[in-house]
Parts: sequence; C-alpha cells; structure tokens
Amino acid sequence: MTTTDHVDVDASGLEAEAAALDAADRLRRFRDAFVGSEASLVYFDGNSLGRPPRASVERLATFLRDEWGGRLIRGWDESWMLLPFTIGDAIGRTAIGAAAGQTVIGDSTTVLLYKLVRAAFDAQQTADPERIEIVVDRDSFPTDRYVVEGIARERGGRVRWVDADITAGVTADALRAAVGPRTAVAVLSHVAYRSGYLTDAAALTRIAHDAGALILWDLCHSAGSVPVEADDWDFDLAVGCTYKYLNGGPGSPAFAYVARRHQAKLAQPIQGWMGTADVFAMGPEYRPAEGMRRFVSGTPPIVGMLAMQDTLEMIEDAGIHAIRTKSIALTEFAVRTADAVLAPLGVTVASPRDPALRGGHVNLSHPSMRQVTEQLWGQDVIPDYREPDGLRIGLSPLSTSFTETHTGLLAVAAAVRSLG
Ligand SMILES: Cc1ncc(COP(=O)(O)O)c(C=O)c1O
Repeated sequence: MTTTDHVDVDASGLEAEAAALDAADRLRRFRDAFVGSEASLVYFDGNSLGRPPRASVERLATFLRDEWGGRLIRGWDESWMLLPFTIGDAIGRTAIGAAAGQTVIGDSTTVLLYKLVRAAFDAQQTADPERIEIVVDRDSFPTDRYVVEGIARERGGRVRWVDADITAGVTADALRAAVGPRTAVAVLSHVAYRSGYLTDAAALTRIAHDAGALILWDLCHSAGSVPVEADDWDFDLAVGCTYKYLNGGPGSPAFAYVARRHQAKLAQPIQGWMGTADVFAMGPEYRPAEGMRRFVSGTPPIVGMLAMQDTLEMIEDAGIHAIRTKSIALTEFAVRTADAVLAPLGVTVASPRDPALRGGHVNLSHPSMRQVTEQLWGQDVIPDYREPDGLRIGLSPLSTSFTETHTGLLAVAAAVRSLG
C-alpha cells in the first residue's frame, strides 16, 4: 500500500464518522446562527476571530438606527453607562464562573493586563517590599510577556521566567519551583495559545497562594470554550478576549475579572474620569469608584460590545459544559484524523493528546506549515500559522462542524503533499 492509498482508505472512513458525529451533535442548530456557515469555506480560526452571529447583523443595525441614531447622547444615561458591567456579569455567569460585580468589559486585553498586573504588583509591594518578582511563562502570548517586562522595568521589579515544553504548558511542579517569598504576582494562561495545553487553574492558583503570591489568569483561549470557575477556583484576577470564542468582532474590547475581596485594595494605574466615584462631578482630583468601575479608565467602547451579547445568549442556551463536551469531541476527531491522514506525511500533533489537558485548538507541526497556510487561505481553508512550523486548528464548538473539520484536514494533507 502506498502512502496515498493509506490516506484515501482512512479518509473515507473518517468522512462517514464526521457525518455521523454531525447528525448526533446536540449543538448542531447553533452553526446556522453564524454568518457564512452555509458556505463551503472551512474556518479553523474561530479561536482567533470568531464568525459573526447572524443576530448581530440586526442588533448592530438596530443600534445604529434606533439607539445611537434615535436616542443620541441620551443613550449614555438610558443604558450605555451600565453596559460594561451588565455584559461583564453575563460573561461571569455564562462563561467564567464569576458572581455578579466582579467582571467588566474595558480596553484591549493588553491594556487590561497592564492595569491589573500593575495594580497587583503595587499592592503586594506595599504589603511586603521583598516581593519584587513577576512570574510568567516564557512561552506565553507575547503581549503577556511584554506587559510584564514593562511593569518590572517601570517599578524596579524583576521577571521570573517559567520554562515549559512548547507542545504542552506550565505544570504544577514548574510553577512551584518559580514562586516563593519574592513573588508578587504570577501571570499564566489557562489555555496555551500555541499548544492548546489546558492547565489545572485551581491547583496552580493554590500553589501561587501558598507562596503568598497573587495570580492573574489569561482566559483568552478558554472563555466560551472551556469552563472556568473563577470564584470556586479562588482566582484573584483574570483577563480575556471577546473576539475569539465570544464572537465580539475584530478588536472588540476585552473583559477583566477582579475578585471582590481585592477590589477596594487595588489601585489601577490609568486613572481616568470614567473610573471615578462620581463621573460627572468633574471633581478636582481622582477618587476611585467602589467596585469594578474603578478599573474603567475612559469612555467605554459601546459599539464593540454589541455582537458578543448574541454569543453570550447562545452560550447560556447551550450551557458551557455542553460546549466543552463538543469541543473535546471536535479536537479528538481532529487528532484522530491527523493521525490517519497527516502522520503518514510527517506531520506531528504538537498539542496534548489527553483531552483533559487540551483546550479548543490543536497544533499540527511540519516544516512546510507556513507555505501550507498560505496555500490553504487561497483555497478558502483558513487555519492559523504559529511559529515554529505550527498549523493551528481552532475548533469553535458553536460554529464548527465535524464535516468542516474533516474537509479542512484533508485539504491540509493535500497541501502538505503538494509542497513536499
Ligand atoms: C492568550 C492571549 N493573550 C492576549 C492576547 C492579546 O489581546 P489584545 O490584542 O486584545 O490585547 C491574545 C490575542 O490573541 C491572546 O491570544
């Protein structure tokens, strides 16, 4: 049997399996709720920029016409001022296990990271000047590392790097070795952006706390895909994107979570008028508001908060645990398909094989993946490329089908074959 024969035999069995999995999929009805899902295009990038919900087309049009167009500046008093908090609470309730009053929509993830890590660092320093280190994973998303390095430089602190296997992520042992009496705050990703490694966030939070450190969780690749229990797992702080699995659209603003027990103690560094106790008093000095408003700086980006509301409604309807069940089924199917049709071509799975240790995406490694990605984009098959040699397959549980996954992976195989 040649390599090609092997690929074709396995592929046909998997095609039938994909169809059966789609037929049995309890979340199947949600796929039709997204713009573009009727087309043959294969979308493997919902963990980078989610598809738009169909309902958002009408929501945005209504907003422009009736709310912005009709209510004009009155809209701020009537509803917009509260929107960052009501949507924040909806994210807390549906996706990250946070009781009301601890989650707010704000700036980009990068800016929220800066605000919260600096606030945490300063609070720890005030309590104990020996705590000068910020612990961060050397393989975490660049913005997390850059923000941490900038804060360390700005505040006379030090970065303590955690080295982890790039096909996996930060383990309990690795964190235990990095934290101690010098640690102010640790910054970790719940799901690693490259490998998809899913950490045990409850255990790692305990390890940070046992060392007297605070911990900030980057939830960008988990919110809307992997259940999070911010309150039960005793999180201190968290941030996350809304344009990935929450389908907020390009550049939609991120969310921040601050556990209620910390809110009054934390002073965030971008003291803007929207974070003051009495916004329209226009007072002579900054007096931070109670609660989550103190983490807001400037005018909230209302237009960017519209589309995510439709996805949050879908998540509430589907249930985050059912979403996770489908996410595991999708990544298991992708790994099985990769083993059958891509392994014979020299492609390796650079993500955890145990679904309990894997989030919603799978990284496939081969020296030609950069060119493979370019070729596939031209054929309406859209994965992501991540250094080194990684083709990242993002499977968005509400909008991705098993047949789409199968079709896309066969296209990857054809591209790898054609590029040698
Ligand atoms: C894990 C992770 N953290 C942070 C960011 C940065 O987010 P933003 O561009 O909204 O600042 C991203 C963006 O993809 C990400 O994947």
